[in-house]
Amino acid sequence: MFEDKLQKLQKSNLIRIVHDRDSAQGARIIIKGRQCVNFGSNDYLGLAGHPRLKAAASDAAQRWGAGAGASRLLGGGCPLHRELEERIASFKDTPGALLFNSGYAANTGSIPALAGRGDAIFSDEMNHASIIDGCRLALAQVHVYRHRDMGHLEELIEKNNMDHKLIVTDTVFSMEGDIAPLNELSVLADKHNALLYIDDAHGTGVLGRCRGALAHAGLTHAANIIQMGTLSKAAGSMGGFIAADRDVIKWILNTARPFIFSTAIAPAPVAASICALDIMETDVSLNRKLWENRLLLTGRLKDLGIETGGSETPIIPIRAGSGGHALEMGEALLERGFHAPAIRPPTVPEPMVRITVTAGHLPDEINALADALADLI
Ligand SMILES: Cc1ncc(COP(=O)(O)O)c(C=O)c1O
Repeated sequence: MFEDKLQKLQKSNLIRIVHDRDSAQGARIIIKGRQCVNFGSNDYLGLAGHPRLKAAASDAAQRWGAGAGASRLLGGGCPLHRELEERIASFKDTPGALLFNSGYAANTGSIPALAGRGDAIFSDEMNHASIIDGCRLALAQVHVYRHRDMGHLEELIEKNNMDHKLIVTDTVFSMEGDIAPLNELSVLADKHNALLYIDDAHGTGVLGRCRGALAHAGLTHAANIIQMGTLSKAAGSMGGFIAADRDVIKWILNTARPFIFSTAIAPAPVAASICALDIMETDVSLNRKLWENRLLLTGRLKDLGIETGGSETPIIPIRAGSGGHALEMGEALLERGFHAPAIRPPTVPEPMVRITVTAGHLPDEINALADALADLI
């Protein structure tokens, strides 16, 4: 039974295979036996391999142990968990914060906690899979609006005007690299008395001088805004979080199943995340470098006539036409010494090679990637 299904995937160029690295995460890696420049990670600031994060993680493992041993509600937490939550709340300028084991767990736990039976969720059609799954788990009605289309969103709200409404959006869309219209979303949320839940997985550490998409939009925390984020991307560690009003945090803590029924995140990544926040708060040079590198790459691609879709961030989609061509482009890039993964349906509607530029790339590497893409398109 599964053999047939797998063959079908194979025939449609949709089979997925894990290729492990033979080196640590970073701007230069060894993968599939090749040394290459890595344009495939979300390690935007290069913090995954930062000596201070590595030292903090190993100190924490020595002091607090390798694992947490239980859910935090059953005594699996240690002072580092609380310290990280306090640091996240201060970093995001919110009254409170709650830590999850991953961004995926934060979305699949918090969305059902915030919108239940009789409520309505309004979700951008390009939202991340973890939001889609969170919406599926919620017992609320789910209405999907066209990508970044505020007219369509308002039309759906007016047609489905339940007492409790939750608007959900990625801030930076994870495959297209474009940014949600947060100013308009917050006006609509206020006008229609809705909660606004923003997934800042790719905004934190990247936008608003590291503080994220809300700061980038010139907005500040409000009682009806719930910020979700992850520590697995620009923060170079792992874990997800919600930053919001204290009552919202208390409610999620009491009702989100991935928080209640899953062993707490281990002390080592928690300590690494605290260290990442230290760096993001005090040193803007990595964030500046990230944006300089993005400007260099997008400038070169523009000169070469290569389309970058709606990208406004270090995530740059290069359309590939078919799944087969996306795979070929990925392989051809690898032969030239660049890792940039092919992304195919169902992750995206149209196959693409997803380039992510980071602070760790050198100008020569970025120029060489642009030249290679020009040859391959
Ligand atoms: C927009 C978005 N939200 C949530 C997640 C999940 O975060 P994590 O990798 O920490 O589970 C991702 C990761 O791919 C993402 O891109």
